[in-house]
Formats: sequence, structure tokens, C-alpha cells
Amino acid sequence: MSLVEEIEKRRTFGIISHPDAGKTTLTEKLLLFGGAIQKAGAVKSNKIKDHARSDWMEIEKQRGISVATSVMGFNYRNKRINLLDTPGHKDFAEDTYRTLTAVDSVIMVIDCVKGVEEQTERLMEVCRMRQTPVLCFINKMDREGRDPFELLEEIEEKLNLRVHPLSWPINIGKNFKGVYSLYEKKLVLFEASRQKLSAEKIEIEDINSPELEQYVGENDANQLREDVELINGVYEDFDKEEYLKGNIAPVFFGSAVNNFGVQELLDCFVDIAPAPIPRETELRSIAPNDPKFSGFIFKIHANMDPKHRNRIAFMRVCSGQFQRSKPFLHIRHDKKMKFSNTTAFMAQDKEIVDEAWPGDIIGLYDTGNLKIGDTLTEGEKGSYKGIPSFSPEMFREVVNKDAMKTKQLEKGLSQLMEEGLAQLFTFEMGNRKVVGVVGQLQFEVIQFRLLNEYGASCDFRPMNLYKACWISSEDEKAMDEFYASKGRHIAKDKDGKLVFMAESRAWLQMVQDNFPKITFHFTSEF
Ligand code: G4P
Repeated sequence: MSLVEEIEKRRTFGIISHPDAGKTTLTEKLLLFGGAIQKAGAVKSNKIKDHARSDWMEIEKQRGISVATSVMGFNYRNKRINLLDTPGHKDFAEDTYRTLTAVDSVIMVIDCVKGVEEQTERLMEVCRMRQTPVLCFINKMDREGRDPFELLEEIEEKLNLRVHPLSWPINIGKNFKGVYSLYEKKLVLFEASRQKLSAEKIEIEDINSPELEQYVGENDANQLREDVELINGVYEDFDKEEYLKGNIAPVFFGSAVNNFGVQELLDCFVDIAPAPIPRETELRSIAPNDPKFSGFIFKIHANMDPKHRNRIAFMRVCSGQFQRSKPFLHIRHDKKMKFSNTTAFMAQDKEIVDEAWPGDIIGLYDTGNLKIGDTLTEGEKGSYKGIPSFSPEMFREVVNKDAMKTKQLEKGLSQLMEEGLAQLFTFEMGNRKVVGVVGQLQFEVIQFRLLNEYGASCDFRPMNLYKACWISSEDEKAMDEFYASKGRHIAKDKDGKLVFMAESRAWLQMVQDNFPKITFHFTSEF
């Protein structure tokens, strides 16, 4: 196959949701349709439940699972589909944000009882940053949920996203009878079943035909006709281009656990979701059909075996063809590197790959040369943009508990930070090290892994910090003045960029007012 055909075949996406909306269940059903798994229950949830807070075995187990389920590839209707898993727990949100840089579109799962939840809102903001196309799946229709019109309104308001229903539910909860697919013009009848793969579909071109009553009864038939009339009045014809620009989200209704509405979602996804799209480097926009290979690392996973320090770096192929053992330019190191141990991820199996195409995610075994954000190319020196670090929300100072293991601590900290587990800031004065995270659980994981994998023990001392802001200025003199005045509060991040460590919101505001020539950034990319 040619490069263009390989690209056209691929759909790389992520499923996002607030925890418990049904992401794992939907993933599993999609894999069933793709033939990647044979029975329900094969996909383990990698969510870390709150009660598992201090359960280290649980964390280790979850890490194992999350390597296996980080990327799941399967084939469906002649398409090669790559599904990227994202951690649901909010303490690991940054990992999710980074994973979203490697997808071309997302499916967002919403619980019809709870509606739009906090985590959904945050994830949508990340999608908006890149105009990622979103398909919505409103799940758990077998439960007594909210009115579908009300749910659509809530999505439009809270997520600031226009919607377009492509299926419509007939009743909800105990009386849920199925959906009418506005996309395929078919009636799909609901039958609660965790085992059945596909539901019965009845073709009804015209919902005004008396045939409809036969299946759903007079009341529901009339209600459906009324609803559909309203939908046709409110929403114009579905505009795929607007979806691809990230402006309109098609909406499907169903029940993942009952495998209902899932195939309709998948069929539509395969029809309309984008094949690999161009991506920006510092130099230019690179189209996937650019003949020269390029790709970037968006995730690093330390190996489970602490005796061997090798890691798997997850790379998204962006253009051209990746070939195993062929030397490629590692831009940050400015040297050629080749990778002989490369894996693809087909469902839960890992297999060696010799070649990969745009849209593919491959795992590169590495002993410490690769970092999140690194770009590999066939020679061009522009790095891919768009894998920012976000300003963390909680800070603690690292206190070394064992002076004999200082080296191990430094090495462990630096490697765990390369994995993207948290952010490390080193104060210019006094070399104090501060770890910044978005969630408490991350501190616990760091402490545990430092001890287990590096033999280094540390404590975390609470710090009264409000935010870390990256600083820049076009005016060198202004920067010098700022440094002279606030040097005590300036640290460096892992790449040596300057960061202002603000103690409170009010104080940050005051400093911003006093130093108008300094720009304060809340993500590392500016
Ligand atoms: P998550 O990955 O988004 O966190 O959610 P997950 O799929 O684990 O689903 C959360 C819970 O919601 C699970 O129940 C799951 O069975 C249930 N669920 C998913 N889809 C549906 C649906 O369509 N209808 C109904 N009624 N429930 C659904 P659980 O009690 O946590 O686990 P389990 O014991 O049922 O597996």
C-alpha cells in the first residue's frame, strides 16, 4: 500500500470522560466489535479508586495494567483503529492532556444521569486548545436519566460546544426502547443484554409510516415524531466540516454495558472521524503524507522491573514511514539514533513492528535517551510543538532522608520527572528542590517509587506556594531587575526555564502589576 492509502486507513483517537461515566466499558465494547477481544470483562479498568490511596500494591498493579492498555489497536471495516487510553483519575490529568496531543479526535462519554461533570469540562478545554473533533456518547440510557434535550443544552452551555444529535432515544430508564438513528435512518430496538453483540435494526426511511407504532407503540411513536421534528427544526443538516474543525459535536445515545448504540457510534466514527491530520513543528506544518518520517514522544513508562532501567517511550508517528533499526535524528541530542526493539500495541498484546505509518503509536525501548516532547525525524530540525507542562497546583519541598543516597535521589527524581509523573523546580538560591503536582496521589507514588526503584528515601515538606509561572521578557534589563528583586523566588524547571514561584494569588497580582515588562505564563509553552 502507498503512504496515502496507509494514512487514509488510520483513525487514532482517545476516549475521555469523568470517572465512572463508562469509558472502560465503552472501550471494551469497541474492542469486541473490532475482534480484538473475544469476551466482555477482558479489559481491566486502570482507574485508581480513591480507597486505594495508600495501597502500594494497587498502584503497582495499576501501572502494569496501564502499560498494557495504554494503546489498543484493532481493525474495523477496513480501517486500522488506534485507541489511546487516558487515566481517569484527576490526579493524573496531566498524563491525559499529553495523550490528547497524540490523537486526531476524541469520543466523549457522558453519564445521562449526572450530565456534564467537572472532569469533562477540563478535558473539553484541552480539546478546544487544539480544535480536536469530538463525538459525544450519552451513556447509561437504561437508567433513569435526564431529559435528552436538557442534556444537549447542558453540553452546549457547560462545554461551550455546539451539538448535533445523530441518534435519538425512545424513552429512558425502565421504559427505554431504543434509539432512532438519524444518521442511518434506522430504528434500533433495545434489549438489555451484556452479552449480545449487535441489536436488531429496522429500516424506517420515514418515521411517519405506521410501521413505527408496530415496534414502539403509539405513544412513543408520536413522541419520537415530535422530537425528530423539533430536532430537524433546531439543528440544520449535519455539517461534517464543522465537526472536523471542532465546532460541532455529533451526539449518540446508548448503553455501553448493554452494548447498545455502540456499533452505531463506531460506524459513524469510522465514516466521519479524521484520518491523521497535519501537525505543527517549530519550522512548519507537516502533513502526514510528507515522505520523510517524523514523530514525537508523548508518554514514557518506566519498566516494571526495577533491576533494569529500561523504559518504553510511546511515539506518535506523524509523517512518512518509520522503520525499525533505521537511524533517525533525535533533535534535542542532535544525533542519530536507531531503535531495534520497537513494539506495536494490538489490543493487549504487544508485538514487534518493523514499520509504522502516520497515526500509529509505537513503543520504543529506551535506556534514558528519550524524554516526553522529544521529536525524531529523518533530518529536519524542527521539533513538534504542543506538549506543554501545566502550572501545578500543589507543591512540596523534597527532603533527603538518607545523605548516603543523595545521588540515587537526584537520579530517581530526574528520571521520574522525565516520565512526566510530576514537575521538579530547583531554586536558584540554595539548590532547594520542589515537586509540583496536580493531585496528592502523585506525591505518594513518587515517594514509593523512589524507594523501590532507586533505594532513595525522602520526605515531602509542605510549602506555602500558590503557583509556578514561567516568566519571559523581551527586555533583558527588565528581566535583570526582576531577578535582582525576586531572585529568591525564582526556580528553574527541568529544561532550565525560569519559573516564578508565587506564594499567593494576591501577591502574584501585585508582582505582575509592579513588573509590567515581565510576562507570566501558566503553561510551559509560550
Ligand atoms: P469509567 O471507565 O468511565 O470510570 O467507567 P466504567 O466503564 O468503569 O463504568 C462505571 C460503572 O458504570 C460500572 O459499574 C459500569 O458497569 C457502569 N456502566 C457502564 N455503562 C453502563 C450503562 O450503559 N448502564 C448502566 N446502568 N451502567 C453502566 P461498576 O458498578 O463500577 O462496575 P461493574 O461491577 O458493573 O463492572
